[in-house]
Amino acid sequence: MTFVVIDKCIRCKYTDCVEVCPVDCFREGPNMLVIDPDECIDCNLCVPECPVDAIFAEDDLPEEKKDFIALNKKLSKQWPMITAMKPAPVDADQWKDVPDKLQYLEEN
Ligand code: SF4
Ligand code: F3S
Repeated sequence: MTFVVIDKCIRCKYTDCVEVCPVDCFREGPNMLVIDPDECIDCNLCVPECPVDAIFAEDDLPEEKKDFIALNKKLSKQWPMITAMKPAPVDADQWKDVPDKLQYLEEN
């Protein structure tokens, strides 16, 4: 199993999650983080850290969010590691309640 970041992270990117990961498996894109499924040890520490509940155990993902399993896997091989918290985007709070943000994902 692995843990998975879903579109709730997009344009919020609060990065509280990276501080607690014992194996540094978060990867940073322009406006979202993902988890490298080959590194995640399923410790669950990151889940309560995310202010917008963007992280799920693979098995707990809602049906409509299952595509994020493959997306985390793919993007985690493209994006660099992030291990320290950084300031969120200035407009992050305006995006935290917006649903279905996949359309805003920036891959590069
Ligand atoms: Fe890291 Fe644990 Fe979260 Fe996996 S479940 S991403 S190992 S903090
Ligand atoms: Fe994203 Fe939540 Fe981490 S918004 S960067 S998954 S703390």
